[in-house]
Amino acid sequence: MSTQLLYQGKAKDIYGTDDPDQIISVYKDQATMLNGARKEEIAGKGRLNNLISSLIFERLNKAGVATHFIKRLSETEQLNKMVSIIPLEVVLRNRTAGSFSKRFGLKEGLVLETPIIEFYYKNDDLDDPFINDEHVTFLGLATSDEVAYLKSETRRINELLKEWFAEIGLTLVDFKLEFGKDKDGQILLADEFSPDNCRLWDAKGNHLDKDVFRRNLGSLTEVYARVLERLQAVAEKEE
Ligand code: TMP
Repeated sequence: MSTQLLYQGKAKDIYGTDDPDQIISVYKDQATMLNGARKEEIAGKGRLNNLISSLIFERLNKAGVATHFIKRLSETEQLNKMVSIIPLEVVLRNRTAGSFSKRFGLKEGLVLETPIIEFYYKNDDLDDPFINDEHVTFLGLATSDEVAYLKSETRRINELLKEWFAEIGLTLVDFKLEFGKDKDGQILLADEFSPDNCRLWDAKGNHLDKDVFRRNLGSLTEVYARVLERLQAVAEKEE
């Protein structure tokens, strides 16, 4: 297999393979926030995120969601379909938290009866600005039909994930997804799903996600390991 580095990200590096339609994602032990302004090495984080994300993508694939995930290769690597990433962060919120609470002056944890979807333009130079559907089509990031698909698919994924996390005693507060297009133009769920890009609260209100790093609440790997243990217990039961 060739190991050509195609892209170096904040949390993952992407390598080419002998098959132009497949890539290898290597999860790294790095945590960043504020667009990389704060950066820390956290031993074991890459392994935890790869294992968590692989379990979730396997389940999404089984549920019929079109994703880039092919298989997990090792503790820190997975094989993915090559896609061209649509430069949008699609955020869905089930409850108020984070930037939403700040923007609207609302306390965290209020239930949003209808989950709210937001778009952010993935552009480091502009600090990933908050944009609406019309900005998305104006900027040529997606057509209006594609925007409608991204929203309906995100809502469908939310329904599945909300239920899976509820089974293990966790509330899925919000999350961020990224999508890409494969060589045939089909839109696939891409990137990762891990406590780096969602908020998970347990019944006692503990944060089992990256807010532990953002807000200095304790050991990130300890809480990610708890999420993994709970997901593995369910996965083993289903086998
Ligand atoms: P926010 O409240 O900071 O806007 O974040 C909403 C959700 O999106 C939260 O689960 C974290 C996730 N997120 C990312 O994964 N990457 C990002 O760059 C941002 C801003 C949020």
